Amino acid sequence: MKYYITTPIYYINDIPHIGHAYTTIAADVLARYHRAKGDEVFFLTGTDEHGAKIAEAAERAGKEPQEFADELVPKFVDAWKNLNISYDEFFRTTDPKHEEIVQEFVGKLKESGYVEKRKYEGLYCVGCEKFLKESELVDGKCPDHKKEPVKQAEENYFFKLSEFGDKILAKIESGEIEIGPDTRKNEVVGKIKQGLEDVSISRAGVKWGIPFPGDPEQTIYVWVDALLNYYSATEIYAHTTPNPSSERRGTAIPPLAPPDSGGGPEWPADLHLMAKDILWFHAVIWPAMLLAADLDLPKKVFAHGFFTINNQKMSKTIGNVIDPNEVVAKFGADAVRYALLREFPFGEDGDISVEKITSHYNSLANNIGNLLQRTLSMMNKYQVKSEKLKVKSEKVSIDSELEQLDFMGALKKIDDLAITTNKNIADKQPWVLAKEGKTEELTEVLVGAHSDLQTIAELLDPFMPETAEKMKSQLKSLEPEPLFPRLEE
Ligand code: MSP
Repeated sequence: MKYYITTPIYYINDIPHIGHAYTTIAADVLARYHRAKGDEVFFLTGTDEHGAKIAEAAERAGKEPQEFADELVPKFVDAWKNLNISYDEFFRTTDPKHEEIVQEFVGKLKESGYVEKRKYEGLYCVGCEKFLKESELVDGKCPDHKKEPVKQAEENYFFKLSEFGDKILAKIESGEIEIGPDTRKNEVVGKIKQGLEDVSISRAGVKWGIPFPGDPEQTIYVWVDALLNYYSATEIYAHTTPNPSSERRGTAIPPLAPPDSGGGPEWPADLHLMAKDILWFHAVIWPAMLLAADLDLPKKVFAHGFFTINNQKMSKTIGNVIDPNEVVAKFGADAVRYALLREFPFGEDGDISVEKITSHYNSLANNIGNLLQRTLSMMNKYQVKSEKLKVKSEKVSIDSELEQLDFMGALKKIDDLAITTNKNIADKQPWVLAKEGKTEELTEVLVGAHSDLQTIAELLDPFMPETAEKMKSQLKSLEPEPLFPRLEE
């Protein structure tokens, strides 16, 4: 089975933060899980490099936008490397091949009759890269960026989104495009039913973008450019051999994982993953663009929640932005991956902090780490060999949790298995059994624990690949070494 999964392509106006890491880790868990099942996975991530937001950030830094982008891309590549993200391709929207595909696509849209040039006046938020309605403002400001949007009057090309409401509703209702979680799907459906407004797909005042076909005065709206990355990655792969990543502009970005044997991704995507902030673009505007161009729709779009840091919105002004590299340096990639997905349900909003990651690290050490240590040391001490007894390990599956993107539920199940096994050791007291010479019972407890640890390592693999690897090798050698060493102050 093919499995094509994507993250949003992140704006590179600044270095990556823990929010970007969250979605990317979740996608990585799914990619690894599907690879282990034998699926032909293609995992796409990347950077969104055009538009006013990036141009302004570059200007503040006194750089040309392309130069600025080229400097920021490695920060994302490094962060993903540190977090063990096994993407198959890192996509940049300044890839000339992508620019060509976007122009071609917009050219097709124009021909389809769904594009019209109109005068428009609206309130634009550069932070969101979109026009906001008066009704969306709070105290005259964008609720997400706490800034007043700028009044803009220009002549733009409009995409007639208003003509797609019923078609998209039908596709959602028939399940042809699945939107999750349900609460978000209902919000989207409700909003579509209120009627869709046409959207501007070009900008007259923005130079840093892909030229609009047939009108060099305008550039293509950055969101049209960005959404198309999911499709254009498939086109680039289909028409380029070998792996195009070596030929791309700017920094050479080697794919971390060798592309799966089947080659590149095929449209449509199986899953677009993102947070709720950009669900509308993915669940409505993107499908409408695809319908207008007669292309298939993504099979599933899932929006997870937003988290705060210490109960506050993450912001530079507050100074609570968490740099993924810093927490990885302190806790290791695996504990960070675990903590983010274990803390609150995927799909809901939550809160994260360094203290919370610390406490997850300690629980890992006290539960799974301790179980491995004590099992292996007792096996050594009492000369128990794992092949001595055939013991049935608890059958635990996290398939249904992962199918539903319930990462927290899956991790909880794994933790619970370790808790049960630890409790069994505490109850049976192998040290007493050894003293009393009850060899068979002693062996049963320890070999049972050994086999449960094997199960735990397998289940943990997509979440904590390094830890799973270490566990498997220790279970083989029977030489214990702490999985989660005491943290330095
Ligand atoms: N460039 C657009 C996406 C284009 S995709 C065709 C964009 N970029 S972004 O850099 O702002 O990234 C937004 C995404 O980052 C969210 O949808 C989410 O995946 C992730 N997150 C950013 N902050 C987050 C939190 N505080 N909590 C959870 N996810 C967060 O939008």
